[in-house]
Amino acid sequence: MNQPITVKDKQFILSISNEEIQNSIQKVADRINADYAGKEIFFIGVLNGVFMYAADLLKKITVPCQISFTKVASYQGTQSTGTIKQLIGMPEGIEGRHVVILEDIVDTGFTMREILNQLQAHKPADIKIATLLFKPNSFKESYNVDYRAMEIPNAFIVGYGLDYDGYGRNLPDIYTVVN
Ligand code: IMP
Ligand code: MG
Repeated sequence: MNQPITVKDKQFILSISNEEIQNSIQKVADRINADYAGKEIFFIGVLNGVFMYAADLLKKITVPCQISFTKVASYQGTQSTGTIKQLIGMPEGIEGRHVVILEDIVDTGFTMREILNQLQAHKPADIKIATLLFKPNSFKESYNVDYRAMEIPNAFIVGYGLDYDGYGRNLPDIYTVVN
């Protein structure tokens, strides 16, 4: 049952089941729904990795909300490059809004730092971060990561939207690389 799978040219083993993922997302949704009671949320998802998480989280949000997306790229293969390319810019109409940024994973935190810098120029009322996954031992920044559905060790993962060189995003569960 826990047989390794191959994604492109690497082996991975199951580490977080879809059921566990859904339970952790429900807990975050409950917190967000309570924290934003009486307010409206403008979610900004960071493509590509966020697409499954954004879809599942939004179905659990009960306060009025809108969602739009931005797109950046920083990874090559299994390494964070530290250089962030902006591929789709920030959406219109951010000024004065309660923004929640949705990310699949905050690793070193460099990508999110860049997104925060750009967002601030659009003058939102406030900004919070809701990441599906957080690697505490890799994080090199000082800003608050407000909502973390799951914290994971410092190993490369794929599945549930996250990719290895573009592959593996379709897997419903999360898998960790075998070294
Ligand atoms: P950071 O800039 O180092 O925080 O990296 C953030 C971005 O790198 C995320 O948005 C992901 O797209 C990607 N990333 C980080 N860790 C992993 C991983 O373990 N698997 C797949 N993608 C990852
Ligand atoms: Mg991402």
